[in-house]
Amino acid sequence: MSAANEYNRRNIETLEMFYGTGYLSMGGDEEVANIVARVAVEGKQVLDVGCGLGGAAIALASRHKAASVQGIDIDAGLLKRASALVKQAGLQDRISLTQFEPGPLPLADAAFDLVFLTAVSCHIKDLVPFFAEIKRVTRPGGCLVGGEWFKHCDNPAYRRWDDLLRERGLHFYFVSCEEFESALLESGFEQVSIANRNDEMTQLTQSYLERGASDLRLALLESMGDQGYTHFMEWTRIRADGLALGGSGYGHFTATKRIG
Ligand SMILES: C[S@@+](CC[C@H](N)C(=O)[O-])C[C@H]1O[C@@H](n2cnc3c(N)ncnc32)[C@H](O)[C@@H]1O
Repeated sequence: MSAANEYNRRNIETLEMFYGTGYLSMGGDEEVANIVARVAVEGKQVLDVGCGLGGAAIALASRHKAASVQGIDIDAGLLKRASALVKQAGLQDRISLTQFEPGPLPLADAAFDLVFLTAVSCHIKDLVPFFAEIKRVTRPGGCLVGGEWFKHCDNPAYRRWDDLLRERGLHFYFVSCEEFESALLESGFEQVSIANRNDEMTQLTQSYLERGASDLRLALLESMGDQGYTHFMEWTRIRADGLALGGSGYGHFTATKRIG
């Protein structure tokens, strides 16, 4: 089960301050560019599953010149903001947004050349049916690309991060890189590859920690209040430690749907 509405107005504001307009995941436009560096986007029909606030959909359509991007998410509140950002970017003719209930995707078979998926699978309890649906809507020869957090090692740093998420009532289901790869293969994808990006993410988490304590501090305090700021910085530090101390991992993945 995935839960919608875990992203409220205040944490959306905060995450956008950190990650960039339209993003709920780390790295913003630069991370999208890193993820799609190994695939062709120009002229393609692209699906962004769990598009959130639409930042990646906008980057895929504008910077990476996708012919069209379909963004899909379970959270109507996020899509409302995404829709405003798409309009602001003047991309309504090439980006469409759809809300759906967790489960089968309300999309036709083999409709997309490329599926983009970032920081969404960690919300999904049962990965195989989720990936099987993505495979169904991918055209033969098309591929899935994305970035995801993994459980690297069940050490104290990982458990602190996992406990924090539970304490805050959030639903995350991190799996190991190997389990993630197996789920993709079991769902029928082929040529699965996962590139370890722990070092790059460690640097990025560190830079967010520094910015949160310096240039973004006042804006964050204003948006969240003292207690909210303390909680947010604690979250950022525990996540950074999880990665730096080898508990969490982050990687970029690609997988292909076989022709015929
Ligand atoms: C960490 S945010 C990432 C959003 C976006 N991909 C980004 O990088 O900014 C996770 C997103 O997954 C969405 N989500 C959660 N469960 C989902 C599901 N079963 N299917 C599609 N999206 C889901 C959430 O609503 C949220 O937008």
